[in-house]
Amino acid sequence: MAEMRVPLERAVHRIRLCSVDELAPGEARRFDVEGLRLALIRIGDDYYAIGDRCSHEDFSLADGEVWSEEFEIECAKHGSTFDLRTGQPCSLPATKPVPVYDVRIEGTAVWVEVG
Ligand code: FES
Repeated sequence: MAEMRVPLERAVHRIRLCSVDELAPGEARRFDVEGLRLALIRIGDDYYAIGDRCSHEDFSLADGEVWSEEFEIECAKHGSTFDLRTGQPCSLPATKPVPVYDVRIEGTAVWVEVG
């Protein structure tokens, strides 16, 4: 009799990053949590989390300028911008995306889902 294989569901792990009021609109901040380097960006009352390591070279995206109207962040080293919703680069020299993570607001806490 053939063995039945049941796919394991990917476990989603949640990490609390900060309180909603710790980040001003248009601000980005780096978080080093549980072996991950994340950039949390606030636009209005919405929060976006992406990998903080630019895909062109190892540089912190949280140090860059937030382009709120475009939902992008600009790498401060060579100027590539990344879409905060997809992680895709929008301009050269970066050609590869950065990871994006789901963000949840619960009460006054900002959580990111990884896994
Ligand atoms: S290190 Fe980010 S664009 Fe070069």
